[in-house]
Amino acid sequence: MKTHKINFEPLGLSGRCRTNESLLACAHRFGVGIISLCGGKGNCHSCQVQVLTGTVSEPTPHELEVFSSQQLKEGWRLACQTYPASDCTLSLPPNSLTTLQRVQVEGQEVAVSPEPTVTAYQVKLSTPSLADPQADADRLLESLNRQHRLRCNHIDFSALRKLPPQLRSWNWQCRASVRADEVITLGPWPSRQLGLAIDLGTSKISGYLIDLGSGQTLAAKGITNPQASYGADIISRISYAMKSPGKGARLQKVVVEALNQLAIDLCAEASAEVEEIVDTVAVGNTAMHHLLAGLPVGQLALAPFVPAVSRALNIKAGNLGLHIAPGAYLHLLPNIAGFVGADHTAVLLATADTESKGMMIAIDIGTNTEVSLIDSGKIVTTSCASGPAFEGWHIKDGMPAASGAIERLRIVNDNIQYQTIDGKPAIGICGSGILDAMAQLYLAGVLDKGGRMARNHPRVRSENKHLEFVLVSEEERDGRRAIVITQQDVRELQLAKAAIRTGIQVLLETQGHREEKIQKVIIAGAFGTYIDVANAIAIGMLPSLPLDRFQQVGNAAGTGARLALISLSKRGEAQKIVSGVRYIELASVPSFNKTFIQASYLGRYRLRQGKREEID
Ligand code: FES
Repeated sequence: MKTHKINFEPLGLSGRCRTNESLLACAHRFGVGIISLCGGKGNCHSCQVQVLTGTVSEPTPHELEVFSSQQLKEGWRLACQTYPASDCTLSLPPNSLTTLQRVQVEGQEVAVSPEPTVTAYQVKLSTPSLADPQADADRLLESLNRQHRLRCNHIDFSALRKLPPQLRSWNWQCRASVRADEVITLGPWPSRQLGLAIDLGTSKISGYLIDLGSGQTLAAKGITNPQASYGADIISRISYAMKSPGKGARLQKVVVEALNQLAIDLCAEASAEVEEIVDTVAVGNTAMHHLLAGLPVGQLALAPFVPAVSRALNIKAGNLGLHIAPGAYLHLLPNIAGFVGADHTAVLLATADTESKGMMIAIDIGTNTEVSLIDSGKIVTTSCASGPAFEGWHIKDGMPAASGAIERLRIVNDNIQYQTIDGKPAIGICGSGILDAMAQLYLAGVLDKGGRMARNHPRVRSENKHLEFVLVSEEERDGRRAIVITQQDVRELQLAKAAIRTGIQVLLETQGHREEKIQKVIIAGAFGTYIDVANAIAIGMLPSLPLDRFQQVGNAAGTGARLALISLSKRGEAQKIVSGVRYIELASVPSFNKTFIQASYLGRYRLRQGKREEID
């Protein structure tokens, strides 16, 4: 079949595309991270590209709906709907790319005494001779057990394969890394033992390289989850994986490749080798957990949303394709439910003070938001489908938290004051900016309590019969398209924030509590770290409590993963937390619908049994 050369700019990448292959499929084949929220169906509009040179197929009805004739003339197309008819050069706008996002890796400091799962022992072996021709592995096990009073009885097979040359090159003295009764890997003596903690988010991955001897974090890094190219949220990722076993394997492969690169980068920063990583802990929502482990995910999308496994898993990292020390394990913390995964277990491990007398709420805001209420040692948890709006998706000018995204915004006397990431010219608006915009529009009277946009504001205009508020005008952008918040965007955001508030309210009501009793609200996660809490209260996303009761803790899931990596006791604690959690399915609560409708209103209010009481 005929192929054409496609250049992807400004990435400087190129590849050959068949005439029956969409530009999106071709981009994905070459590792170009074009976002495809709907998985290529043509209805999410996230895969916009500009064809700079070359000929492509005629616009489809989906494209005619999205682009004006002027935009089509300028070459704007949906990559999933467009097929090449000649060699082409494409320009990929930043808000169509999955790369270069700001990723939250910081979390609370980890304060726990090191109690690693893997222990290092110095072993001195006698040299074999004709009079003493004992096999290398037996010699090692015997010496190790005798010198340290252990009962190790086997050596990991991958470690065994390297054993003979290693013992000879280290002059019959080595470090044996032991997990339970197994020698998982060997190293020269003396040498470090490192661990890798991973928070595997739907859109972002954070990695931490830890010295297992001291518990110290040597390097930390965040990257974009490359699976985002196959769907922004959990459901579209699951749908993609369900298309065929090969698609699920593809999702696993891309994430494992990303983790291997992350390990290399972290080790380079700490002047270490990946073979020094002898233990790994990963946390993620249940879908990310299953996709990494290669478990089926179809059942997660269908009622009653049952995970394949809840309990903690220990898997040989090499079996998943992770290139760390031979024989090292990957420990996956336990999941709580189909939509409350090991990442929330990790958040609770890092933040929940089950001994405390005061009631607290822990919220991890993401495309799926998990909420836990902790009171007198009891934990009840729910999960709300807050959707990807606060990550910038389904919002006309929304974009990931990357350079040039508006991240803070104020309206003062009808003037817009904003700050962009890295101080770059504004190209779109990310989650924290979107939340600010909504609150500021409400406080300035542009939006009413129901979220309706006023027509009479000087910055409100009608485009194709749809109202929109101009944040940055064409003139302010030197003739480029204005950055706006549309009436439709406001509706999307109302649904997102209503889901979060409803989750909090339902937990309170099922436990017979009122929100005034909440002593502490822990807000975890990247989005939660950057939001302006006062604005979140102003739109009714969070309960109206004194600001000093809110604590933004950064990446608490990453902190929990580090704790579980450093301390065996913390792994036990995680299992105990999960065994004691009561999970509440939101849709099964009778007041859910009424509460959700009331929670979609803007403003400060209390909710009581599906009724809204305004707060002045
Ligand atoms: S419109 Fe192209 S991926 Fe959704």
